[in-house]
Amino acid sequence: MWPIGHRGLITKSNPASLFSVSDNPMKQSIAPRTPNRWLHRFAFFTSCITFPLIFVGGLVKSHEAGLSVPDWPTTYGYNMFTFPFHMMVGNIFYEHGHRYYASIVGFCILILAIWIWRKESRKWVQKLGWIVLVAVSVQGILGGVTVKMLLPWYVSTAHASLAQITFCLTVALSMVTSKWWNDDVTKTTNKTSDRLQTLTALTVGAIFIQLLLGAVMRHLNAGLAIPTWPLANGNIFPDFTSVGVALNFAHRTWAFVVAMLIFTTAYFAIKASKEHPSFKKPAIAGMLLVVMQITLGAVTILTEKEPNWTSLHVVGGAAVLASQFVLAVRVRHLTKRTAEAKEIVRGTKKVRQTSTNGVRSVPISENS
Ligand code: HEM
Repeated sequence: MWPIGHRGLITKSNPASLFSVSDNPMKQSIAPRTPNRWLHRFAFFTSCITFPLIFVGGLVKSHEAGLSVPDWPTTYGYNMFTFPFHMMVGNIFYEHGHRYYASIVGFCILILAIWIWRKESRKWVQKLGWIVLVAVSVQGILGGVTVKMLLPWYVSTAHASLAQITFCLTVALSMVTSKWWNDDVTKTTNKTSDRLQTLTALTVGAIFIQLLLGAVMRHLNAGLAIPTWPLANGNIFPDFTSVGVALNFAHRTWAFVVAMLIFTTAYFAIKASKEHPSFKKPAIAGMLLVVMQITLGAVTILTEKEPNWTSLHVVGGAAVLASQFVLAVRVRHLTKRTAEAKEIVRGTKKVRQTSTNGVRSVPISENS
């Protein structure tokens, strides 16, 4: 039996008690963080403008415009920023427009990383800012390399996948700089939070696999390898005559695994939302978005990959991922696994607490 401050008892028979990091006496030495409102607003703005970039990038592939500007980092020999607007016609509009828009996003991420470095006291947040800057820079280089190498599927797939990761990282920056994010939170631990910790990790992982399957399929031009929907030429199972058919079938089938995981996670997240109201919105958003995404997948096939619908399906994937990523981060921030909480209370595990001077480890002993 372990006393946990004023919050009650954790017993072997009652693991559903509350665990509170803030009950530790070490807490007194931790100054509360004052969130920088403008920094958070800018981080939020940056994640908002990164989201449509995935649609804009999707349009390039959907219009097969990737090689309409054959050079990089120049544009038909011009510095890309001095390329005449009147020459941005046809597919050049999509390809060069994508480069422009990506430069704006990259510039905002650069400002954000510097701003965080200057104003943010938490070292791990500073690191996260630099990681996002590295991610967006690698993303730009991959974009250039894929053009230079004439769009090999593996480089284009890496470019498409890193886009999703970079977007999620900007969302993370927006979350950790917010007023909502309090480093000195009371973490709860019970069976539902245990389940949610596992489920959110599985869901984010499953969505990422789905995005990878979608990207490989798309860049191998196998989007219409099974040209009908919902059945494959009247059958549940297609004739597996090519890798494209297998990928296409895997992407369709995995969508239902993703949907089931999202709905199951949402069930437990909504159950836990009495204690943690912030779980509710991403859980509901996830359910709506995955239904919309499956519908958009069907529309992509039924319209034979009409560019706007197809690109909406691409950016829809980012929305599904982001909703579950936000939920996963919130769950990790506000709950702790029962086993981990017990270990901390026993003093066999160190817990990391964040102070305005950076991160440090504070052992919590049985007596605390
Ligand atoms: C959880 C649900 C789904 C997610 C998250 C998802 C996500 C994605 C993403 C991100 C891409 C583009 C990858 C890239 O280029 O970066 C993609 C491609 C594609 N998806 Fe899905 N998808 C889902 C369900 C479906 C379903 C149910 C279908 C079919 C009914 C479908 C059909 C397609 C097709 C045909 C493409 C390729 C488009 C092309 O070749 O241009 N998707 N998907």
